[in-house]
Amino acid sequence: MRVLLTGAAGFIGSQVADLLVAEGHEPVALDAMLPQAHGGQLPDWSRRHDLVAGDVRDARLLDRLLSGVDAVCHQAAMVGHGLDPSDAPDYTSHNDYGTAVLLAAMHRAGVTRLVLASSMVVYGEGRYECVTHGVVRPACRSVADLTAGRYEPACPRCGGTLAPALVPEDARLEPRSTYAATKLAQEHLAAAWARQTGGSAWALRYHNVYGPRMPRDTPYAGVASIFRSALAAGLPPRVFEDGRQRRDFVHVTDVARANLLALTATPPPGGLVPVNVCSGEPHTVGELAATLAEAMAGPAPLIVGGGRAADVRHVVADPRRAAELLGYTAQVGFAEGVAAFATDPLREPAALAA
Ligand code: UD1
Repeated sequence: MRVLLTGAAGFIGSQVADLLVAEGHEPVALDAMLPQAHGGQLPDWSRRHDLVAGDVRDARLLDRLLSGVDAVCHQAAMVGHGLDPSDAPDYTSHNDYGTAVLLAAMHRAGVTRLVLASSMVVYGEGRYECVTHGVVRPACRSVADLTAGRYEPACPRCGGTLAPALVPEDARLEPRSTYAATKLAQEHLAAAWARQTGGSAWALRYHNVYGPRMPRDTPYAGVASIFRSALAAGLPPRVFEDGRQRRDFVHVTDVARANLLALTATPPPGGLVPVNVCSGEPHTVGELAATLAEAMAGPAPLIVGGGRAADVRHVVADPRRAAELLGYTAQVGFAEGVAAFATDPLREPAALAA
C-alpha cells in the first residue's frame, strides 16, 4: 500500500514510517519540520526515508504527493498544551486548516482512506462515577483547589467522592485547551469529509505516548521525557499534585502498530470511528517517576504538590473498541517499556539538512 504519511519526522510519525517499510508498504513521507520541534540535525532514523520537507497546507504539493496513494496517515500537528490564546491562530492553522486542505486534496485525488492522529485530550477530565448520582461530569479544578491540595474532582451534585472509571470513545467530549479544541475539530472535519465522500476515517485517540525518539527538552515534552531529563541530570523527578493522578502510558511502538492496523483494517464506510489507543494498564504519575528513577538508579521522586492550570486528574482509557475493531492490544507492558525508556534514544532538536 502506498501511504501519504504527514508528520513523518516526528516522534510517532517516524515510528509509523519504519513500520510501514518493515511491513512492505511504501510511505510518502512529508514533514514541515516546524522549528519549535526541530532545530539541528535530522536524526538518522528520518534520513532513512525520502523525506519531503513541506507543509500540509500546501495544496499544490499535496496534489503531487497524493498521486497513486491508497491511504493517508495524518500525524502532522502542532502539539503541546495550547494554553496561551496568542497561540490559537497557529494551532488552528496547522491543525485544522491543514487538515481541511488535506481532505480537499484527498477528494480531488480520489483517496478515500484516512487514519487521523487524535488525542485523549478531547475528553477533558476522564470519566467519574458518584455512588449516588452515577456517571457525572466534574467541574474543572480551580487553582485554589490545587493549591489547597484538593486534587480529586468532586461530584457536582452532592460534593461527594468520585471513583474514576474507564473512558469509552462515546464519552462526552470537553476539549479544555486550544490544542484539544483543534484535535476535536480535526475529527469533525474528517467526519464531514467521510460523510460527504463515502470515505472512511479512523481517529486514533492516543493516550500518553512514550518511548524511543520522544522529544527531549522542548515545551512539548510529555512527563516521561521531563522525568528522564531530570534523572539524567542527577535530579529527582518533580511530581505535581500528590502523584496519584492516573494516566494510560502507551508505548510508541504500540501506537505505530495501531496505525498500521487501522490503515489495513476493513474501513468503516462513510463515517469516522474514534478509537482509544492505550495500553489498557493505567498507572499513576508517581509510579512512572518511581519506576524510571529506579531504572536509572537516580534519586527518588519529589512530590511537589500544586499542579498546572488545566491539568486533568485521571484519564483511564477503555481499550475494548480498539481490540474489537482493529484487533489491537498493547504488547509493551509498563515495567518493560519504562525500564527500556531509561536508555532509549531521544530526539534531539533537529532540522532538515539543506
Ligand atoms: C499529554 C500531552 C498532550 C497529549 C496527551 C495524550 C503534552 C504537554 N501533553 O497530556 O498533548 O495529547 O498527553 O498523549 O505533551 N507532571 C508532573 N511533573 C512534570 C510534568 C507533568 O508531575 O514535570 C504531571 C502532570 O501534572 C500530569 C501528568 O504528569 O498530571 C501528565 O502530564 P503530561 O505528560 O504533560 O501529559 P498530559 O497532560 O496528560
